[in-house]
Amino acid sequence: MTIISIANRKGGTGKTTTALNLGAEEAARGKKTLLIDLDTQGHLGWGLGFKGEKEFPVYIHKLFEDKNFDLKDAVYETPFENLYLAPADVNFINNHQEKMEVDILKKSLNKFIKENNIDVVIIDTPPTLDIFMLSALVASDVVLIPFLPHFLAAVGVKQMAKLFYKVAVKHNTNLRLLGLVPVMVNKRIGMHKKVIEDLTRVFGKNRMLRGIRTNVKLAEAFLAGIPVRYYAPKSAGAMDYYLLTEEIHMLIGEK
Ligand SMILES: Nc1ncnc2c1ncn2[C@@H]1O[C@H](COP(=O)(O)OP(=O)(O)OP(=O)(O)O)[C@@H](O)[C@H]1O
Ligand SMILES: [Mg+2]
Repeated sequence: MTIISIANRKGGTGKTTTALNLGAEEAARGKKTLLIDLDTQGHLGWGLGFKGEKEFPVYIHKLFEDKNFDLKDAVYETPFENLYLAPADVNFINNHQEKMEVDILKKSLNKFIKENNIDVVIIDTPPTLDIFMLSALVASDVVLIPFLPHFLAAVGVKQMAKLFYKVAVKHNTNLRLLGLVPVMVNKRIGMHKKVIEDLTRVFGKNRMLRGIRTNVKLAEAFLAGIPVRYYAPKSAGAMDYYLLTEEIHMLIGEK
């Protein structure tokens, strides 16, 4: 059983696309997979075909305002076998931030996992440093940081890594930085190559995971509400997420 947070404080770095397609890969391999959307933009649901107007009776964000919240009430089947979603509340207004406990998600998740034989949990986080991001890191075994290979993005990755170390020291000593995932990569662009090389020097070769190439099928699949492995199985996007999943399994020692 593995809990993976997908996080980067910078917006638009492929977090949701990665959470969604990694989740679809795991589910297709027969793993009972739960996707949790902690980002109140609610994009993960869109990517699974739940359009904006879809109302769920209970959202994952209720966890942060209701002491009696039970995660099972916020988990829904998706059209894809083995793949479950805990959707975000796009109307959630966070009035209680200072009173919230950082391990609230961890506790709720541990109970749910035990009761439901979940194999993999993937948490999509917002591009902000807030209680949702912290809760995700506290609840997780490993973190993946997707980033765009641009100069400012490299600054964002270093900020994110600092936050990771802080949480790992203070709240969750088991937390591992699984790796950095360059997204929307074109190796023929000199800047992409340079940024990836620089970050590889800082974080080490083992932490620089396979890149995801720029591939319009990933954006199209998202709009269609279908993971890319089903939307365009022969595309570069489908191939890259397949290979990233294999690489992650090797790193965490799973088949
Ligand atoms: N490899 C790729 N090739 C082409 N387009 C991509 C790729 N990855 C993501 N995109 C597109 O880029 C946009 C941003 O991606 P995504 O929503 O996954 O980023 P994010 O980090 O979750 O953003 P936010 O910070 O707003 O949550 C989306 O329109 C998505 O479809
Ligand atoms: Mg997102």
